[in-house]
Amino acid sequence: MANFNLTFGSTFIFLLLPLLLQFPSGKSDLQLNYYSKSCPRAEEIIKEQVIKLYHKHGNTAVSWIRNLFHDCIVKSCDASLLLETTNGIKSEQTSSRSFGMRNFKYVNTIKDALERECPMTVSCADIVALSAREGAVMLGGPHIELKTGRRDSKESYVAEVENSIPNHNDSMSLVLSTFQSIGIDTEGTVALLGAHSVGRVHCTNIVQRLYPTVDPSLDPNYAEYLKGRCPSPYPDPNAVEYARNDRETPMVLDNMYYKNILGHKGLLLVDQQLVSDPSTYPFVVKMAADNGYFHDQFSRAVVILSENNPLTGEQGEIRKDCRFINKK
Ligand code: HEM
Ligand SMILES: *[C@@H]1O[C@H](CO)[C@@H](O)[C@H](O)[C@H]1NC(C)=O
Repeated sequence: MANFNLTFGSTFIFLLLPLLLQFPSGKSDLQLNYYSKSCPRAEEIIKEQVIKLYHKHGNTAVSWIRNLFHDCIVKSCDASLLLETTNGIKSEQTSSRSFGMRNFKYVNTIKDALERECPMTVSCADIVALSAREGAVMLGGPHIELKTGRRDSKESYVAEVENSIPNHNDSMSLVLSTFQSIGIDTEGTVALLGAHSVGRVHCTNIVQRLYPTVDPSLDPNYAEYLKGRCPSPYPDPNAVEYARNDRETPMVLDNMYYKNILGHKGLLLVDQQLVSDPSTYPFVVKMAADNGYFHDQFSRAVVILSENNPLTGEQGEIRKDCRFINKK
């Protein structure tokens, strides 16, 4: 009888196994250490390159974090952001939402190092995810465990960028519902905006809060400082004038951002709205008080963001050059 049960049990599993394996779920196809057999040093190589680039240009680390957001929230975490304009492709980088993005050319520095060791194996989408992870570490942020196995898109979604990425002055309810649509809750959204603890904002995204009258939600002394950084109400969009996101620790991914916005020293309207919106305010207070809590929530939200709707299996391709789809 026991024997019968055993046989029955294993037959049952035997029948179920193909079903389980075929179950279509993009998310579960990503796995920890996806390249452990095909390119065992992949994650190490990305880390080495990110460190090297950071020591040459510290702000590359900042760019890797912004890239993750702009790539993953538009349709999928699929490196569509990295495609350059060519015949038949209009780059997502040309959208006004991509304003100020920089350091794209160094993505290929990372990709070239991978191609030398394991040609056509590691996707540009995984480079986007893992470079953001290592960038966060270089900026004093948490180390985030991320799955891999994403594949690269064969198209750009430039027309969807403006619907997917909020504008600097959009309402908090729109921002929250955008993140909600990819499974990131209010707490996670508040944490992700903490990325604005690093980097810069150009004057064209700030002057609406300074001229003709100063936004009353800005600290008056801080507004004076910003006017000094941005003396013209009509900055040339190509001008390089900018302000640091965080004057105290501009290159550290820490909770100073939340202290700043509580002190009415946020740069973007969306930053300041985290304080004025009653649904986000309590999380701002908690994150301002506890850097570890901010890092935990930031990590949790980055994982969800990085797993948004990935291409896996036979979908998409592994690009040879992150800027272009492969030639047939
Ligand atoms: C409502 C959501 C968001 C809006 C409206 C927004 C908007 C902006 C704007 C307008 C800039 C300045 C661009 C410039 O003038 O050069 C900026 C910079 C930046 N954003 Fe966001 N952002 C949002 C969310 C995020 C998220 C979720 C991340 C990452 C997790 C992120 C990472 C960054 C970084 C790192 C910079 C600095 C870039 C640099 O210095 O090169 N942002 N963002
Ligand atoms: C938001 O800013 C853009 C310019 O970046 C401007 O065209 C638009 O009118 C602003 N929207 C609101 C609601 O203020």
